[in-house]
Parts: sequence; structure tokens; C-alpha cells
Amino acid sequence: MFQRREFLKYLAASPLLTSYSAFAQEVEETLGERLTDPSEVINVWEMEAVARAKVPPAHMGYLLTGVDSDDTLRANREGYTRFQIRPRRLVDVSSTDMSVNVLGAEADSPFFLCPLGSQGAFHPDAELGSARAAAAKNHHMILSTMSSTAIEAVAEARDKPLWFQLYVATPWENSATMLRRAEAAGCTAVALTIDLPAGRNTETDQLMARGDDRDCTVCHSPPRLKPAFDGLNMRGFGVMNPAMTWDVIGQMKEVTNMKVIIKGVEVGSDAALAVQYGADGIILSNHGGRATETGRSTIECLPEVIAAVNGRIPVIIDGGIRRGTDAFKALALGAAAVGIGRPYVWGLGAFGQAGVERVLDLLNRELAITMRGSGTPTIADIGGSYVHDVGHRVPRGKLGRDLL
Ligand SMILES: Cc1cc2nc3c(=O)[nH]c(=O)nc-3n(C[C@H](O)[C@H](O)[C@H](O)COP(=O)(O)O)c2cc1C
Repeated sequence: MFQRREFLKYLAASPLLTSYSAFAQEVEETLGERLTDPSEVINVWEMEAVARAKVPPAHMGYLLTGVDSDDTLRANREGYTRFQIRPRRLVDVSSTDMSVNVLGAEADSPFFLCPLGSQGAFHPDAELGSARAAAAKNHHMILSTMSSTAIEAVAEARDKPLWFQLYVATPWENSATMLRRAEAAGCTAVALTIDLPAGRNTETDQLMARGDDRDCTVCHSPPRLKPAFDGLNMRGFGVMNPAMTWDVIGQMKEVTNMKVIIKGVEVGSDAALAVQYGADGIILSNHGGRATETGRSTIECLPEVIAAVNGRIPVIIDGGIRRGTDAFKALALGAAAVGIGRPYVWGLGAFGQAGVERVLDLLNRELAITMRGSGTPTIADIGGSYVHDVGHRVPRGKLGRDLL
């Protein structure tokens, strides 16, 4: 092991090194075993590498997968290459303030923790680890219907109001019961996910599960047994309702006083319908490339959605956000906050709560550097004139390193 490390160091320093990508591949393959403390991890992809070394392949497959050939998943990253930053100079950036307030949710950072189900599959800390990390850094968190941990326990660990993500279960009374329970647990908003009415084909998940023959019934429960479904009527029970239409917003408002946020809008006309039907907010999302295949990247959908909403309700964006610069671009194009999914769960899988905290630190540091470097000391300062739309995606290879 030592010899290999020394060799890699030699390679890195050597003028003989002709292929950076060959070196990078070597490094990536050994990262998981070499990085043993969260403080050694320098970006979210390194955290992914550590998680890969620790999380069983079938579970990692569930975390990483997109749908079909993962085109939308890749698009979410590539979309960011379309926008370039236009910095301003000689602005006093001696202190930066990254705090946001979205529908009453106050946070020290615009990076929101997206609802991501079954976190018990990645680390025993599960959602409690994520919630404690969110509390330590004052990040806002949205809890999934499919979480491995009961909402009351997560709310206590976060110690500030969560938002609850809802999959509308059938019969309707089951959804109503979940809404009442979330409200009683102190949630101030519910994010209704609308982008998965028809099932999906998660091939990367299936590929990575091949050869992993552990018995998963001992490490995580099947969907019907998630804590959110405790006490529900199982006659005619379904986790999602494919018959759902826009009327669901009014139906939810009859049951709850929580704000209703629609998660999974991708086009301007749907954003306008969400406003028309009374939504209080939108999460522009394609489920991290896990819903409709060959869709656009979320960042490329953002201008159209922002134009349709026209300032009437806040728009949060998620999908492919891996750098402070990504967040900066989304905020410049009008997002009120940015959601991260996989990156914080890579941290969870790698080191539990401490790994989530490290991911948040890394992203916050990158965003603070970008804000200072661009002459925007507060989030409100990051306006549309701070990004330039090239009009097409630029191949990553021509821009520089992305994945190690
Ligand atoms: C493993 C996994 C589980 C997810 N579970 C849910 C969920 O239960 N409910 C939901 O609305 N979105 C879910 N999502 C989507 C995320 O909330 C979010 O939209 C997406 O992860 C953002 O993209 P990113 O992972 O590229 O940051 C899940 C995503 C992943 C990767």
C-alpha cells in the first residue's frame, strides 16, 4: 500500500507524467481506502469515492442510478457548462453572508438537503445523521416520505422546522394522515413530489446489484414498511397515485396549514399552473435524473420557470449541483435556494454525520469563494447579470476536470 502511494506521489510530481487522466483514474481507484478522515476529503467526488468503498454495491447502485441510460442524470451536470460567471471587481467582500429565508425557513446557507429516501441503507446514522449535520451547520432539510427514520425523531434531531416531502399514497385518507402527522411534528411546509407517476427503469441500480447477494431484508425495510406508513390503512394502499392532477393542491390545503410546495416541475407552463392552483413554492427538479429519461438539465429549465412564475412564489432548484459555482449560477438565474441530494448522502455513507458536515463545509466554502471572487457579498446581490449563457453545453473535457 505504502509503495503504491509513494508511486502515485512520484507520478504526480513527475515531468514524465503525460496523461493526467490516467493518473486521476489511479487516484480515484485508491481514494476510498486512502481517505480515512472527513477533513482529508477536498470535494464531493472524493466523498463519493469513499462512500463507494464503504457502502455495499447494491445500495450504492440505488444512490447513483438514473433511469435507462442515465442521460438526464448526466445532463444535470453538463447543463452547468452552458453558463459562465461574469465577476465584478473592487467590491467590498471582506465579509460574506450566505443566509436565506425561503417561506419562513431560515438557514445560514442556500444549500438545502433534498428529500432522499432509505438513508438507513447508507449508514446506521441514517436521517438522524443528516439532521444533526443540518442542525450543526444550520442548513434547511426536507424529509422524504420514504425515510428510514420516523419524522418525529428527525424533527427533534434537526431542532428547527423541517419540510416534509409527500408521495400521495392511496387511499387519500392515508395521505391526509401523513400530512397531519408531519404538521404535528412541527413541519412548516410539505413538498409534493409530482415527477414519478409511472414507475421507472433504474438500470444502473440493477447493474450494480448484480453480484451483491446479501440479504437486504436485514439492512433496510421494503417500501410498505417505512415509518411514514405506520398505522395507515393497508387496504387498497399504494405508495403513489398515478391518477393525481393539479386539484391535489386544493385537496392538500383542506387538510393542512403547511405551505404546499410542488416538487418536480420542469417547464414554464406547469410552473404557471402550480401558481394558478395555489402552490406556495416550486422545486424545479427532475428527481436527480431518476424520473423522465432524456430530459433537459434542471439549470437549463430554470430561466423558463422563473419567467413563468414572475416572482409570485419562490423557486428552488435541485439536480447535479456539485460545486459552489453551480449554486452561484442557479441563484443568479433566480433560484431562491439550491437542493443537494447525492452529495450529502455520499458524506453520510462515507463517515456518517461527520461526512455530511464535511460536504456542507466544502460546498459552503466553495460558494463563499465564488461570491467573494464575483463581488457579491450577499445572496441577494447575485443577480442575472452575473452569468452569461453560452447558448449550448460545452464538453467538460474542454473546460477542465470534473469527476476526478
Ligand atoms: C437515492 C435517492 C433517493 C431519493 N428519494 C427521494 C424521495 O424519497 N422523494 C423525493 O421527492 N425525491 C427523492 N430523490 C430526489 C432528490 O430529492 C433530489 O431531487 C435529487 O437527488 C437532486 O439531485 P442530485 O442528487 O443530483 O443532487 C431521491 C434521490 C436519490 C438519489
